[in-house]
Amino acid sequence: MRKNILILGAGSDMARALCAELAGGGYDLFLAGRNVDELSKDAKDLEIRFEIQAEVFYFDALDFDSHAGFYEHLNPQPYGVVVAFGLLGDENRARRDPQEWQRIINTNFTGCVSILSLAANRMEKAGEGFIVGISSVAGDRGRASNYVYGSAKAGMSAFLSGLRNRLFSSGVRVITVKPGFVRTKMTRDLDLPSRLSATPEEAAGNIYKAILRNRDIVYTRWMWRWIMAFIKHIPERIFKRMSI
Ligand SMILES: NC(=O)c1ccc[n+]([C@@H]2O[C@H](COP(=O)([O-])OP(=O)(O)OC[C@H]3O[C@@H](n4cnc5c(N)ncnc54)[C@H](OP(=O)(O)O)[C@@H]3O)[C@@H](O)[C@H]2O)c1
Repeated sequence: MRKNILILGAGSDMARALCAELAGGGYDLFLAGRNVDELSKDAKDLEIRFEIQAEVFYFDALDFDSHAGFYEHLNPQPYGVVVAFGLLGDENRARRDPQEWQRIINTNFTGCVSILSLAANRMEKAGEGFIVGISSVAGDRGRASNYVYGSAKAGMSAFLSGLRNRLFSSGVRVITVKPGFVRTKMTRDLDLPSRLSATPEEAAGNIYKAILRNRDIVYTRWMWRWIMAFIKHIPERIFKRMSI
């Protein structure tokens, strides 16, 4: 029997590229997100190109009360779950507008905790499967320019780390993805350095390989692992003067 993978935030550019990888690998897909019309087009396209089944579900990461009903409704229960939803938000606005920091924290962190807590309990009982969480290098160290988003991703990375430890003995794998720069809708207004920036397809290829190879943490592009190792080791008394 073919296995189903649930993609949360399936309209994300990285998620769409990952769907093609997963469909190519023979997985059936549950595409979940807010833009159901767009997702339905993607689902048809994936079904035709890869001869798989793809179903579409409405999912809002911020509607925590709906998550249990949403997850229970999935049939069959997913073998794999990918959290791809996320929100960069407006960091300057978040300094003065509580609604903006709440949106950033609740989308990137609380939404992830809410849905993955449900998924983890079900998968732990099943004793198999994988969870992929797309976090960010921004969570590796707080920076002046994006510390609300960064702290939400730091929380997400710590949550995924704990989940990985908890689920290890049950046979469920948890993979933390830490992209640096990826050319997606999220970054379309930013001037990204080309050497450090991946396409969604390159990032998705790295994520799929990480699933196949049982990796715990994957940086994409790979050099971000070393960039962040360096950045994390800069003493705070110097870091606070660098304004990076
Ligand atoms: N691009 C980068 O450079 C970069 C770097 C590091 C980490 N990341 C992370 O990578 C992940 C994928 O992002 P991306 O770059 O592919 O960006 P993207 O194309 O802008 O995708 C973000 C997705 O999140 C969805 N989303 C936002 N709020 C949601 C909510 N409340 N409920 C359900 N879905 C929601 C959006 O859905 P709608 O279409 O409904 O708005 C959109 O499909 C995100 O977690 C992001 O933080 C990206």
